[in-house]
Amino acid sequence: MRTHYCAELDESAIGQEVVLCGWANSYRDHGGVIFIDLRDKSGLIQLVCDPADSTEAHTVASKVRDEFVLVARGKVRARGEGLENPNLKTGKIEVVVDDLTIENRSEPLPFVINDPNVGEEIRLKYRYLDLRKKSSYETFLLRSKATIAARNVLDANGFLEVETPVLTKSTPEGARDYLVPSRVHQGEFYALPQSPQLFKQLLMVAGFDRYFQIAKCFRDEDLRADRQPEFTQIDLEMSFAGQEDVIKVSEDMLKAVFAACGHTIQTPFNRITYKEAMEKYGTDKPDLRYDLAMVDVIDIFERCDNEIFSTIAKDKHHNRIKALKVPNGDNIFSKRQMKGFEDYVRKFGASGLGYFQMKEEGLKGPLTKFFTQEDLDEIIKVTDLKVGDVVFFGAGEKKLVLDYMGRFRIYLAELMGIIPEDVFEFVWVVDFPMFEVEDGKVKALHHPFTMPKDLDKEYIEEIESIAYDIVLNGVELGGGSVRIHKPEIQQEVFKLLGISDEEAEEKFGFLIEALKYGAPPHAGLAFGLDRLIMLITKNSSIRDVIAFPKTQSAQCLLTQAPSPVDPEQLKELHIRIREKRKTQEHT
Ligand code: AMO
Repeated sequence: MRTHYCAELDESAIGQEVVLCGWANSYRDHGGVIFIDLRDKSGLIQLVCDPADSTEAHTVASKVRDEFVLVARGKVRARGEGLENPNLKTGKIEVVVDDLTIENRSEPLPFVINDPNVGEEIRLKYRYLDLRKKSSYETFLLRSKATIAARNVLDANGFLEVETPVLTKSTPEGARDYLVPSRVHQGEFYALPQSPQLFKQLLMVAGFDRYFQIAKCFRDEDLRADRQPEFTQIDLEMSFAGQEDVIKVSEDMLKAVFAACGHTIQTPFNRITYKEAMEKYGTDKPDLRYDLAMVDVIDIFERCDNEIFSTIAKDKHHNRIKALKVPNGDNIFSKRQMKGFEDYVRKFGASGLGYFQMKEEGLKGPLTKFFTQEDLDEIIKVTDLKVGDVVFFGAGEKKLVLDYMGRFRIYLAELMGIIPEDVFEFVWVVDFPMFEVEDGKVKALHHPFTMPKDLDKEYIEEIESIAYDIVLNGVELGGGSVRIHKPEIQQEVFKLLGISDEEAEEKFGFLIEALKYGAPPHAGLAFGLDRLIMLITKNSSIRDVIAFPKTQSAQCLLTQAPSPVDPEQLKELHIRIREKRKTQEHT
């Protein structure tokens, strides 16, 4: 219907006849002349409906209200002197309308589009209206460009785009499955894939050599600002390839994606081992836009005259004593704030938080009395203290200390305002442990299909894997690994995970069998596309970059899903809903 998009027009179009389509963003009646700001995906332009030019168009214009759908034909002209709008891209021109059609009317909207104070609940209920705001369109335009750029790079590198099933068997990535009951097979269920992991490996066995997919994944897990139950991965896999090949392709792809979004990034990215990341930053996704690294002081504390610390320090395998220096902290924080820091770390299980202040005359603080001057000097040396600095200490069980000191590091950085906004700081975290032990149960840190380096270690936690994560500004953007391509190693890993032969056969028999028919060595990775866009657009919630997201309680407020279904449908699926317990007690 249209000849142009509204904001495409500029002074070069003056005198031109145009047809524009869109929504009435606003209207004003100025002494008989009606001005309408017409909006489409490109932006706004002012329409002028003057009875002197067209009485018909003016009559139609008088009926226009906010968000009516319009088609306008008219001529572009320069705005009168002093009537220009410098805030509008098309602010120097307007369109004098000679024909106006109302294609559709609109009820008054339930909220004002663009109003930052409107709650998320109502915005999600009317998401199609919320998406009318300019920033939403820009986000999805960028998401589309980023996805196309990723596709193009992978295509140029010989990757084949293949779709894998959504109705499938469980693909374990550490979350609960979404299940779909089968009508045909009574009492049996499909699982929605947590990732295409197993199928992409099977495509390597098939000899496809290089695969990718922009894949929908489903995970029933606790939701956070960077998690959705249904999300998208840029998923890839390569044969006869290892970690370095995957890293190279990934960096090339990210470079192209960022370029498509108007950003230049430098490759290769820095690397850090999992161990170093945990010991220095207390997390496997360190935000390296700022420093504040922890230093190990367990040996110095072992010599101190305080039994609590020296006892902790004796068991270096299970415990940690970490120092976190805050440059100039003595001048930045008040006494009250310093006290508050202890309350902060206690929330994460710390029993306390020690600190020293570096004064002109030396180290000060309640703990100094337990140390010899030599050891105090050693603390100054290893933490590189200058006058005015403060150094905090966390002591206790390794996992606990690393966790709360890591959180404390981020908390301090936010408090001090030292996190640069306009920086993209990538880091590869490499050499992940293969397993972790939680409550005595052995679990795969990545997934059970990851290649271990050497299974022969004293502690199971010491077994490393060829797994790597890509972290951007403290957010895990993607993860991958070299895969097990030999059935006997796969079976051994299942054993170490406490999966019996029967269970392995029942759950992954098809994979083990496939590995027996000439599986090539292969490796891959998956990026979280939603997270990537969230970080590029600097949105704080993943929901902002998903067209129709779910709430924190996994609901779609627009369609009201999940919702009860027809009893007939349940019957067909051989499902009976148990009454809620309360009702049962009553009946
Ligand atoms: P992983 O489980 O690390 O690896 O997932 C890869 C990336 O997907 C994103 N992601 C999510 N994004 C939004 N909401 C979620 N609930 C969510 N869960 C994960 C993250 C994450 O880094 N099959 C392996 C990859 C491989 O080994 O090739 C896998 O899925 O950005």
